[in-house]
Amino acid sequence: MLVIEQFQSKGGGTMIMNALMDYLLREAPPQSYINLMADVDGFYERWGFESSLPNSRGMVLKT
Ligand SMILES: CC(C)(COP(=O)(O)OP(=O)(O)OC[C@H]1O[C@@H](n2cnc3c(N)ncnc32)[C@H](O)[C@@H]1OP(=O)(O)O)[C@@H](O)C(=O)NCCC(=O)NCCS
Repeated sequence: MLVIEQFQSKGGGTMIMNALMDYLLREAPPQSYINLMADVDGFYERWGFESSLPNSRGMVLKT
């Protein structure tokens, strides 16, 4: 996810994550595996996410 630079650090990213987490925790079946690509440290941890390493690592294909 991305908040336009001039609007960062104003709580927008937190609002987006709160809304996503409300939806996921309401709709996802029990024991769901929810993953994301994290390019920052210390942000997604606020909602309980933890690194998947060393068990799994993300991969991308650029064409
Ligand atoms: C990461 C991002 C989505 C956060 O959105 P935001 O609107 O700035 O977040 P908030 O204002 O809700 O920030 C709440 C707290 O999260 C933490 N945080 C925000 N951006 C952070 C970053 N880049 N790295 C680490 N912690 C961060 C800070 O503790 C922040 O508190 P502060 O306002 O005192 O700095 C936004 O900075 C962004 O779009 N960055 C560029 C794109 C990017 O790196 N996206 C993530 C890739 S997965």
